[in-house]
Amino acid sequence: MKRLLFVFLITIMLFTLTCCGTKADKTSQSTNTNDTSMISQTEQKNETEEITETKIEEGEENLDSGIFNFETKTVMLNSGYEMPIMGLGTYSLDYDTCVSSVTALLDNDGRLIDTAYMYHNEDAVGYAIRTSDVPREEIFVTTKLYPNQYSDAANAIDEALERMGLDYIDLMLLHHPGTDDVKAYQAMEQAVQDGKIRSIGLSNWYIEELEEFLPQVTIMPAVVQNEIHPYYQEIDVVPYIQEHGIVVEGWYPFGGRGYTKELLQNETISAIANSHGVTSAQVILRWNLQRGVVVIPGSSNPDHIAENLDIFGFELTEDEMEQIKGLNRDEKHDWY
Ligand SMILES: NC(=O)c1ccc[n+]([C@@H]2O[C@H](COP(=O)([O-])OP(=O)(O)OC[C@H]3O[C@@H](n4cnc5c(N)ncnc54)[C@H](OP(=O)(O)O)[C@@H]3O)[C@@H](O)[C@H]2O)c1
Repeated sequence: MKRLLFVFLITIMLFTLTCCGTKADKTSQSTNTNDTSMISQTEQKNETEEITETKIEEGEENLDSGIFNFETKTVMLNSGYEMPIMGLGTYSLDYDTCVSSVTALLDNDGRLIDTAYMYHNEDAVGYAIRTSDVPREEIFVTTKLYPNQYSDAANAIDEALERMGLDYIDLMLLHHPGTDDVKAYQAMEQAVQDGKIRSIGLSNWYIEELEEFLPQVTIMPAVVQNEIHPYYQEIDVVPYIQEHGIVVEGWYPFGGRGYTKELLQNETISAIANSHGVTSAQVILRWNLQRGVVVIPGSSNPDHIAENLDIFGFELTEDEMEQIKGLNRDEKHDWY
C-alpha cells in the first residue's frame, strides 16, 4: 500500500512540473513577440551573433527595452543594444564642418551621431570616429539608405560601410517610404545576420505607413525617426510607435533651419528656460527626453554642441511639460 501511495505521489509531482514548464515557455514566447508575424532582433541575434558588452546576454529577456535611463543617458533598444538618448545631427554639414562637429560632440562626451547617404558626409563622420580617442564600441552611429538605393540595398550597405571606413553600423534606417522599401529592409535584416549592422529602423513612417509595413517584415524596427518639435509634436504617433516597443527619435528638434529663431524665442519656452536658468534649446531637448523621444539636434557650433549635451542637470515639471504640449500646431516644417 505504501509503495502504491509513493508511486501515486511521484506521478502527481511529475504532472505538476510538466504543466508549469509549458506555461513558462508560453509566457516567454508572448513577451518576446509583439505580433505573431514578427520576431525581435534579440531573438534573431541570439542564434548567430557574438555578445558584446552593450548587448544583453543570450536568452535574457530585454525587459528594459524602450525605457530611458537618465543616469547612463541611454535607452535599451529592442535589438538588445544600448543607444544614447542625446546626440548630433549632421544634415547639411560639409566635410570639414562635419568632422569638427562630430569631434566636438565626442570631446564633450556625446556618443550618438546621425548621418545619411543623402547628407554626403558619411565619409566625414567615419573619419571623425576613426581618428577619435573614443573607442569605437562607445560610439553609436546611425546612417540611412535613400530610396534611390532600395533596389540594390545590399550593395548600398557595403558601400556605406566602405565610405565610413567602419566594420559595422550601429543603426541603419530607411530614409523614406518608397518603391522596394520592403526589399531594402530585408537586405538590412540580412546585414544584421551578417554582423554588418546592429539595429535597423525606419524614418518618416507614420501610423498608416507602419500598419502596412510592419506585417511584411521579420525584425521589428528598433527606431523610427520622424519630424518632432514643439510645433509638430506627433501627439498620437509617438505613443503608437512606443507601444510597439520601438524607440522614437525626433528630427528638427529646433524646427529646422529657417524656423529655429521663432521656436527658440517662443515666450512659453523662454519663460520656462529662465525659471531653470537654462536656454530655450536645452528646454526643448529636455522636453523631448521626458516624453521618451531621442534627440539629434544639428549644429556646426562647438559651443551649441556642448550646450545641447548639458540637459541632465534640470527637470521639467508636469505643468511645464503640459505648457509645451499646448504649443502644438501640427505645423510640419518639411514635406515628408
Ligand atoms: N530622417 C529625416 O528625414 C531627417 C530630416 C531632417 C533632419 N534629420 C536629422 O535631424 C537632425 C536635426 O535637424 P536639423 O539639423 O536639420 O535641424 P535642427 O536641429 O532643428 O536645427 C539646427 C539649427 O539649430 C541651430 N542650433 C543648434 N543648437 C543650437 C543652440 N544650442 N542654440 C541655438 N541654435 C542652435 C543650428 O545652428 P548652429 O549650427 O549655429 O549651431 C542649426 O541652424 C539633422 O541634422 C539630421 O541628422 C533627419
